[in-house]
Amino acid sequence: MTQWANHGLDLHLDLGSGGGVRAGLEQALRQAVRDGRLAPGTRLPSSRVLAQDLGVARNTVADAYGQLVAEGWLTARQGSGTRVARGTFAEPTPPLAAPVVSAPTGLVESDYGQSYPYDLRPGSPDLSSFPIDAWLAASRRALAVAPRDALGYTDPRGRPELREALAEYLARVRGVRTEPGLIVVCSGFVQAIGLLGRALYGIGGRRIAVEALGFPNTRTILRNAGLETVRLPLDAGGARVDRLAGEDALLLTPSHQFPTGTAMPPARRTAAVMWAREHGAVIVEDDYDGEFRYDRQPVGAVQGLAPNHVVYAGTASKSLAPGLRLGWLVLPPRLLEPVVREKQLADRHSPVLDQLTLAELIVSGAYDRHVRRMRARYRRRRDRLVTAVAQRAPRVRVSGIAAGLHAVLELPADGPGEAELVARAERQGLALSGMALFGSGTGPALVVGYGTPPEHAFAGALERLCAVLDSADRP
Ligand SMILES: Cc1ncc(COP(=O)(O)O)c(C=O)c1O
Repeated sequence: MTQWANHGLDLHLDLGSGGGVRAGLEQALRQAVRDGRLAPGTRLPSSRVLAQDLGVARNTVADAYGQLVAEGWLTARQGSGTRVARGTFAEPTPPLAAPVVSAPTGLVESDYGQSYPYDLRPGSPDLSSFPIDAWLAASRRALAVAPRDALGYTDPRGRPELREALAEYLARVRGVRTEPGLIVVCSGFVQAIGLLGRALYGIGGRRIAVEALGFPNTRTILRNAGLETVRLPLDAGGARVDRLAGEDALLLTPSHQFPTGTAMPPARRTAAVMWAREHGAVIVEDDYDGEFRYDRQPVGAVQGLAPNHVVYAGTASKSLAPGLRLGWLVLPPRLLEPVVREKQLADRHSPVLDQLTLAELIVSGAYDRHVRRMRARYRRRRDRLVTAVAQRAPRVRVSGIAAGLHAVLELPADGPGEAELVARAERQGLALSGMALFGSGTGPALVVGYGTPPEHAFAGALERLCAVLDSADRP
């Protein structure tokens, strides 16, 4: 039986075409059957589940299914659900449109928003679990009480409601020590690191140390800000801070190194802070998935050790959705003015309505509840991944701590390499990322984003991953 996956139909739906949601859904399903992405016999998700994933009414999906059954594309039988009919209309599967990896620009492939039947690339949470009802309710409440001048040009640091909510939340959940006045709300980490890079350059900074493996875009952004980036080697404890040599700043992912998945041990966190104090340098702590730790309580942010030397950077991209483009910087006092100035020049301030909504979501407790629910879900997915890999590909090692939304799968050195496995997976409709996208210096490995698929597609994605690994596990 072929498992259903969300074939990116939400992306193919043309809701603005005048035909309506139902017509768009029917068209998308017909097209998916026609070009073979939905094979004959494939069981479709229940109308309830698909409606939830697509954010449409259940009746809309039920009606679309009914229409396609009537047309002969689908069959519906009591007990076996709705399936793709075993007809002759499926045409050969065309090759997937674009390569998974775009080496020349160094962009991570998920940046393109291209969808695959199954997607285990890192970088995205399960978007089908976005808390729509809670978000709408928070938005309504927030707007009802917001002063009208909130809709005008506002403080470049962002709305005070959100900065107050974040100061309380980050203190409680991540051990961050700050006050609302030192927080700057920005358009995700990507804007945050650009603002910071320019601010550091503006106050005389010239060299920043970065982890040898990380997001290629981050280094590009820092270089565009005028800074020289120096790569620090990594070991099992993360960045080798003992190798620092005269840099003005240091960018770290200490809670869960991206992408290798290690946690920085206490002694090294302290060593980094001591280095910053001694040299008047700045540590930038990218805490992109700090809420998601499964084997123990999350370890508090390094910022809590030295608020005058550490910039804390957080984002809603993993906890809620990257499309929100909401992130925040918690700054040492001396960096506040330079960063605020850059923010003002970049876009005056971030959009107000989403800030007010996020503030209300946090204050009402709905944000905590969502994070708790997702933590349990991602933890189960990680456990399933670890178990499946141990059974199906025992020579593949899952490394890194039990945290976050991605895991590293170290491949046997005598098997097919990363690129070959990524290509094999692609032929199965599964998008994967190799470690080489993020830098060099490790053995062959895959960086598996188990948080990415919608819940109903996870099993299918895992099955395909295991099939690909199985073929790689033999020498
Ligand atoms: C290491 C790292 N930092 C930050 C982010 C978040 O970036 P942004 O807030 O711009 O979406 C990600 C997301 O994939 C990440 O992997």
